[in-house]
Amino acid sequence: MPSLLRIATLLAGVSSTAGLAIQHEQRNAGTCRKTKVAVLGAGVAGVTAAQALSNASVTDFLLIERNDYLGGRVAHTTFGKKADGTPYTVELGANWVQGLGSPGGPENPIWTLAKLYGINNTYSNYSSMLTYDETGYVDYTDVMDAYDDAYDIAAADAGVLLTNNLQDPSVRAGFSLAGWKPKKDMHAQAVEFWNWDWETAYAPEDCSFVYGITGNNLTFNQYSDANNYVWDQRGLNTFLYGEASTFLAPHDKRLLLSTTVTNISYSDSGVTVTFDDGGCVEAEHAICTFSMGVLQNDVITFDPPLPRWKVDAIESFEMGTYTKIFMQFNETFWDESMQYFLYADPQVRGYYPVWQSLDAPGFLEGSHIIFVTVVGAESYRVEQQPDEVTKAEVMAVLRSMFPNITVPEPTAFMYPRWSLENWAFGSYSNWPVGMTLEKHQNLRANVDRLWFAGEGTSAEYFGFMHGAWFEGQEMAKRVAAQLKAAKKNNGGSSQYGPQMVRYEVLHGTTQLKEFNFENGWPVSSFLDYDSDSD
Ligand SMILES: Cc1cc2nc3c(=O)[nH]c(=O)nc-3n(C[C@H](O)[C@H](O)[C@H](O)COP(=O)(O)OP(=O)(O)OC[C@H]3O[C@@H](n4cnc5c(N)ncnc54)[C@H](O)[C@@H]3O)c2cc1C
Ligand SMILES: *[C@@H]1O[C@H](CO)[C@@H](O)[C@H](O)[C@H]1NC(C)=O
Ligand SMILES: *[C@@H]1O[C@H](CO)[C@@H](O)[C@H](O)[C@H]1NC(C)=O
Ligand SMILES: *[C@@H]1O[C@H](CO)[C@@H](O)[C@H](O)[C@H]1NC(C)=O
Ligand SMILES: *[C@@H]1O[C@H](CO)[C@@H](O)[C@H](O)[C@H]1NC(C)=O
Ligand SMILES: *[C@@H]1O[C@H](CO)[C@@H](O)[C@H](O)[C@H]1NC(C)=O
Ligand SMILES: *[C@@H]1O[C@H](CO)[C@@H](O)[C@H](O)[C@H]1NC(C)=O
Ligand SMILES: *[C@@H]1O[C@H](CO)[C@@H](O)[C@H](O)[C@H]1NC(C)=O
Repeated sequence: MPSLLRIATLLAGVSSTAGLAIQHEQRNAGTCRKTKVAVLGAGVAGVTAAQALSNASVTDFLLIERNDYLGGRVAHTTFGKKADGTPYTVELGANWVQGLGSPGGPENPIWTLAKLYGINNTYSNYSSMLTYDETGYVDYTDVMDAYDDAYDIAAADAGVLLTNNLQDPSVRAGFSLAGWKPKKDMHAQAVEFWNWDWETAYAPEDCSFVYGITGNNLTFNQYSDANNYVWDQRGLNTFLYGEASTFLAPHDKRLLLSTTVTNISYSDSGVTVTFDDGGCVEAEHAICTFSMGVLQNDVITFDPPLPRWKVDAIESFEMGTYTKIFMQFNETFWDESMQYFLYADPQVRGYYPVWQSLDAPGFLEGSHIIFVTVVGAESYRVEQQPDEVTKAEVMAVLRSMFPNITVPEPTAFMYPRWSLENWAFGSYSNWPVGMTLEKHQNLRANVDRLWFAGEGTSAEYFGFMHGAWFEGQEMAKRVAAQLKAAKKNNGGSSQYGPQMVRYEVLHGTTQLKEFNFENGWPVSSFLDYDSDSD
């Protein structure tokens, strides 16, 4: 049971910096605890939503979380050993603050908080990189420049598509139209992986061109193009404990940790949330912050079932997997001055491609820790196999990258299995080909008194911590406005209406009458001459 083993490891390393200990609720059979707002999930979105409720003077809320820590996908664990025998802390999930802020421009709220809580981080220098293939070190950095040139053309083209409401192709098609065609060249594929898949956790074939490019623009043009890697030994979720302590007292009865939601029953008058231990909460409103992976994998029963427009949006959005495989060695046999090492496998695109040294200047110097990241299909494969099999594959790659060095066996080896965690079912979401802004809005829209927030509901910042932050804040403001309107009995006066915009019917471009001879469609697909025979 690799997934259960992983949970044990995840839990072993978590801190409770602000002294917010596990609450074991006394639950009376038959009567549900009552509250105004049930916030479901205590990741970035849930903690932010609860804070925004407090800010709006809504103090009667419950923050309900199945894990025993705050942070969700912002999760760390202990790994390896320092010289003094104590372990290091490494991040299993979110690791970079992406897009910081520029003088005079807006600031990424996560960056504001990282600074506020003194979270140790270092600029990721994507030029501090050496390139490799199965023969060892080979300099193909010139391919990076070719990619960058094509990307600029593609980004401008995506702008033309957006402005003129032209059909959205895949990133693969968009790149090809810009002249970038890497399929015959494994070095070019490695370069493409490093620039595209390593960020989105999906191959260009699987990504929306317009929303992929706008996603990059909105974070990296609006804030800054810097990505700062967090290596703080308290863990990145220290900032969330800090924020939680601004509105929760130690042992606050409104925080229910280790509490697993199994059933959400909703209507236009309230929401009842049931736990796996039979406990329940009756709320006037609920904000569900569970990942797209959780919503897609039927681990929660919705009563009544969510409407078709909602389910369609949930099932259409993509949940990617991003797997960091950590190794510690007794020595640093790679270049100590470099941050990254890119490997181009001769057969398989995305086979242990991006290696990242934590021994580089400004990181965990002297740690002899390096990790390799796989995503997408390789993540699913690697997460299904035992540690020993993965370790053997990884060591074979390292030995081909460093043919003239006797690469020792690692002294520590570990990786999380995000695709199997039943509270996440993946790492972060991604915008697929064919999903429109309207269909994405259906992900965000409330259903009666049940509201949705999280990185996946963010149209502009899906996949990022700051996306989760903005959506948590937004939905809490909407719920607070509903409570205020109800108090004054003037539901119509708020800037936030009781129903968010939704699109119950979304048409394609092809009319039924266009399925005709001129369009190469002389036969009806509804005919079935074979229906009688078996
Ligand atoms: C490997 C990895 C790398 C990443 N890298 C970055 C990065 O570098 N930079 C960046 O900005 N973002 C990164 N992200 C994405 C970032 O972690 C997420 O966008 C963000 O943390 C999501 O927050 P959330 O509140 O929307 O969801 P979550 O963190 O998933 O919060 C939802 C909460 O709901 C809880 N929950 C689920 N099911 C139940 C249930 N049945 N009952 C009760 N509680 C439940 C979960 O335990 C969780 O705590 C990464 C994520 C991963 C996994
Ligand atoms: C709550 O208010 C504080 C103080 O003004 C602010 O710093 C914080 O960002 C607010 N939180 C949210 C989620 O809006
Ligand atoms: C990034 O790394 C490159 C290559 O090592 C180096 O030339 C450059 O000065 C570094 N940039 C920063 C900002 O550290
Ligand atoms: C390995 O050593 C051989 C022979 O000395 C040399 O030709 C080759 O360039 C070296 N390879 C690397 C990757 O350093
Ligand atoms: C993205 O930003 C670039 C400038 O960096 C611009 O040329 C392009 O039009 C933008 N594309 C979209 C889709 O916003
Ligand atoms: C943060 O960085 C400083 C300076 O390198 C170091 O002394 C300190 O121990 C670090 N703290 C944590 C919690 O990582
Ligand atoms: C979910 O909860 C509702 C209301 O509490 C209840 O009527 C329904 O039977 C529950 N469904 C499941 C599958 O437990
Ligand atoms: C690391 O271990 C290898 C054997 O696995 C050994 O040959 C090497 O000398 C060790 N390095 C150091 C610095 O101890």
